[in-house]
Amino acid sequence: MKTKSKKILSLVLASIMLLMTLTACGKEETSSTGNVKGNGDGELIGVSMPTKSLQRWNQDGANIEKALKELGYKVELQFAENKIDTQISQIENMITKGAKVLVVGSIDGTALSTVLESAKDEGIKVISYDRLIVNTDAVDYYATFDNEDVGKIQGEYLETTLGLKEGNGPFNIELFTGPLDDNNVNYFFGGAMKVLQPYIDNGQLVVKSGQVSKEQAAITNWDEQEAQARMDNILTANYTSEKIDAVLCSNDSVSLGVQSALKSAGYGTEDKPMPVITGQDANIANVKAIVADEQSMSVFKDTRALANKVVEMVDAIIKGSEAPVNDTTTYDNGVKVVPSFLLEPEAVTKENYKELLIDSGYYTEEDVSK
Ligand code: BGC
Repeated sequence: MKTKSKKILSLVLASIMLLMTLTACGKEETSSTGNVKGNGDGELIGVSMPTKSLQRWNQDGANIEKALKELGYKVELQFAENKIDTQISQIENMITKGAKVLVVGSIDGTALSTVLESAKDEGIKVISYDRLIVNTDAVDYYATFDNEDVGKIQGEYLETTLGLKEGNGPFNIELFTGPLDDNNVNYFFGGAMKVLQPYIDNGQLVVKSGQVSKEQAAITNWDEQEAQARMDNILTANYTSEKIDAVLCSNDSVSLGVQSALKSAGYGTEDKPMPVITGQDANIANVKAIVADEQSMSVFKDTRALANKVVEMVDAIIKGSEAPVNDTTTYDNGVKVVPSFLLEPEAVTKENYKELLIDSGYYTEEDVSK
C-alpha cells in the first residue's frame, strides 16, 4: 500500500474508534441518582440506621441500598433498634468487613466518637445521615434536610392558622419535641420557638402546663407511647375545664401519641374538634390523620432525595472527586464545622398532600386511604 493510502486508512480507523468511544459514553446507563451505573467496583459501603420501628428509616435504608447497588457497590445495611450498643457493634462489624465509607444515622449523636475514631484510623470516610454526629473530628460530611427550617415551618403554620400575626388569642398550646440526644431536636424545637416564643411572651399563647423548655418538652426516642402518657398527664392536670387549642409536635410519631391522648379525652368530635397539631415526616398513618382532620399538617422530607444525595457523596468520595455540599457554616459538631448538604423540607396539608405525595409517586392513593 502506498504511504498516502496508509495514512488515510489509519486516519479513518482512528476516527471510527473515536466515534465508537463517544457513542459508548453517550450510552452509559445511569442510575436513579444520575450517576453512571456499575462504577462502584464492588467496594463495600456500610449503612447504619437507627431503628426499623419508624417508617422513615426503613425507607431511607432501602433507598440508599438500592441506589448504591445500582452503582455497583456492595452494601451492609443494619438497623440498631434504637440501642446505642447495638449501633456501635454493627459499625465495628462494618469496619472489620472492610467498608470504605460509612453512612450513619445515629441514635445518640454523642456516643459514636470511639468507634468512629477507629474508622478514621482505617481511612474510612464517614457521612452523618440526617442527624449530626457530634464531639468527633471523625465525620467528613453531613447530609440532611434544613432542620431549623422544619421547626420554622411548624411554628409558622401555627402562627398562620391561629391568626397570631393578626393579634388573635389567647390560645392554649402545649409543646412536644424529641430526645435531647438527637442533635436535630435543637433545630426543630429552636426553629419553632423562634416563631412562637414572642407570642408566649405577650400572652397570645398560653402554655398551661408551664412546661416550655426543650428539656420539659422532650420525648425519649421519639416514642409514641411516652408522648401519649405525657399528654394524658397534661390534659388531666390542666385541661379539665378549659380546652387546648394547639399542640406543637416536632414529628409524626410524637404527634400520633398526642392525638391518641386527645381522643381519649373526648377531642375529635363536632363539639370538641381536635386542636391544631403539627408533625414531621408525612408518615402514612399521619397522612391518614391529616385526611381525617385529626392532624393539621406534617413536614415532608423526601427520603428519596436525601438517599440520592448521600449516594452522590459516597460515589464522589470513592472516585476522589468533590462531594456535593451547600452549607459550610451551620453544623458545628463541637470539634469541627461539618460540610453539609441541606435539602428543603415542605409543609404538607390536606390541601396539597395529593400533589406532594401522590403525584410525586411517594405514596399511592391506596397507601393513604383508610
Ligand atoms: C429525624 C426525623 C424523625 C425523628 C425520629 C429525627 O432525627 O430527622 O425525621 O422523625 O428523628 O426518628
